[in-house]
Amino acid sequence: MHSLQTNDSPIEDSRTLLPKLWRHIAPTLSENRGRVGLALACLLLAKGGLLLIPFLLKALVDGLDSSATPSPTSLILLMVIAYGTARLANTLFAELRDTLFGRVTERAMHRIGLAVFKHIHSLDLGYHLNRRTGGLARDIERGTNGISFLMRFFIFNIAPTLFEIAMVTGILLYNYGASYSLVVLLAVTLYGAFSFRATRWRTRFIREVNAADSDSNTRAVDSLMNYETVKYFTNEDFEAQRYDASLEEWEQARRKNRLSLLALNSGQAVIIAGSQTLMLGMAALSVQNGDMTLGDFVLINQFMLQLFIPLGFLGFVYREIKASLANIERLFAVLDQQPAVADMPDAPDLRVQTGAIEFHRVDFGYGPDRSVLAELDFTIEGGETVALVGASGAGKSTVVKLLFRFYDPVEGAIRIDGQNIGEVTQQSLRQAVAIVPQDCVLFNDSLLENIRYGRPTASDAEVEAAVTAAYLGDFVARLPEGLATQVGERGLKLSGGERQRVAIARAVLKDAPVLVFDEATSSLDSESERAVMSAFRALAGHHTAVVIAHRLSTIVDADRILVLEEGRLVEQGCHDDLLTRNGRYTALWQAQQREAEPSIDHS
Ligand SMILES: Nc1ncnc2c1ncn2[C@@H]1O[C@H](COP(=O)(O)OP(=O)(O)OP(=O)(O)O)[C@@H](O)[C@H]1O
Ligand SMILES: [Mg+2]
Repeated sequence: MHSLQTNDSPIEDSRTLLPKLWRHIAPTLSENRGRVGLALACLLLAKGGLLLIPFLLKALVDGLDSSATPSPTSLILLMVIAYGTARLANTLFAELRDTLFGRVTERAMHRIGLAVFKHIHSLDLGYHLNRRTGGLARDIERGTNGISFLMRFFIFNIAPTLFEIAMVTGILLYNYGASYSLVVLLAVTLYGAFSFRATRWRTRFIREVNAADSDSNTRAVDSLMNYETVKYFTNEDFEAQRYDASLEEWEQARRKNRLSLLALNSGQAVIIAGSQTLMLGMAALSVQNGDMTLGDFVLINQFMLQLFIPLGFLGFVYREIKASLANIERLFAVLDQQPAVADMPDAPDLRVQTGAIEFHRVDFGYGPDRSVLAELDFTIEGGETVALVGASGAGKSTVVKLLFRFYDPVEGAIRIDGQNIGEVTQQSLRQAVAIVPQDCVLFNDSLLENIRYGRPTASDAEVEAAVTAAYLGDFVARLPEGLATQVGERGLKLSGGERQRVAIARAVLKDAPVLVFDEATSSLDSESERAVMSAFRALAGHHTAVVIAHRLSTIVDADRILVLEEGRLVEQGCHDDLLTRNGRYTALWQAQQREAEPSIDHS
């Protein structure tokens, strides 16, 4: 079953979990002190009404008892009204308490949900490439619900029920001697011990259900996100089978869970029924012996009923709390995940002057067993336009990811204007670099908002200027809804080239001192490509620019060309220089010229 764990959550026990949980909810509780206090007052009033009820019942029964001296009708009427009022107060104040406290739990859920969201965004790319969206979403949802449950029930159920048990035991002891209170204490202890043991035993099944639930959700989300691929390969049945298998596991886990619940509930019922029968028997005997009135009998019975309802509920709550803790544990496992890339304490902001970039003997691999970049050493002057070329998989995009500090190099250092990018804030670093990524994925929103994402404060006019600069103007003009057009999930309603130009427009808006184009024109036809490249040149004119390109014809006029091969820099120089050297670049160039010749659209 462990294979089902979506995240490697360490199995924590409640001793470490509860203090952690407290740290998360304490600020919300103290912020809403007034509300919490009012809710507690309502709780006391509700419980007060409840404790009055048996006494009123006793007085009524004794008052109506024909064998004793009956009370006057007006007194009976008064007691009936008091009984009704006590009942009403009990229910009303309980409702009021829940209404008041609802806001507090929602605040706490809001706060924790936001903290988790921010935390996940602070994690490194490596984490995100491994995460499973569907399962993660489920873990977060269950975790925040678990926290809300715990807050409500710990404060309003467990503590008050314990208080009620103490009160009832005291009342019975005071009025009827030790034997009754002893039975109550015994029943409660037995009940508590049994519930505790049985619930601990059941936690395992709850974890299994959760893991299976997250797993099936992961499968469903992953499969739907790959809708097109599923269709291309007509793998609907295959997908359905996999989902079916994972639902099957879920069903099995639920079955085990339910059976264990049956065992728990039955055990609890036996204890409750047993002790209730015993107490009633004792009371009945006392009435027959004349030691008690009928009213006392009713009072004891009523107390037992009232006590065992919350006690039975306590069993349920304890169970649910265990389940909630199991859920919260997974949420906290997410929160405990430390980002592999983090700001140093008191890191200063990057101060960009010219935007000079230096890679100093950089070694890097995504895992320990495979090196992707080796001894990479180059500098880019401020304002220079440098092209990065090389075969697929040579490590070009990796250079960009390191420059963005999505990963830290294993050896060596990367500097911008002399400042090591590992020693400045990630925020300031990333603000200084604008990128047109290799695969541009868009938000499911309008074209306008997607472009504005480059600088959320940009005005509509600025967005339109960026649209023109990215040669998107004609395309937008042809759209019936213009910039308001919705782009669909991940932007899939646009063509690859259109998506890329949206990414260019975003980069234009961001207007950062360093520009990176990763294969920025790979999806464009020759004419648009030329247009886009000239837009770039205009932009790159006063920026440092790194251009990654497969088609060498697009970068012939770069100030310098770096040739990467298997993560090593094998050649560098301008186009003409490199051609005279007759090395790797010449070979690449000639190969592309040969390919291009028979083609009709070669430029
Ligand atoms: N997140 C990752 N985890 C593990 N390996 C990776 C990861 N990203 C890339 N790689 C590997 O690192 C190598 C370099 O990848 P990179 O994306 O830098 O190549 P590239 O030069 O940009 O290629 P292309 O021209 O096809 O875009 C590849 O062999 C790739 O499989
Ligand atoms: Mg690449």
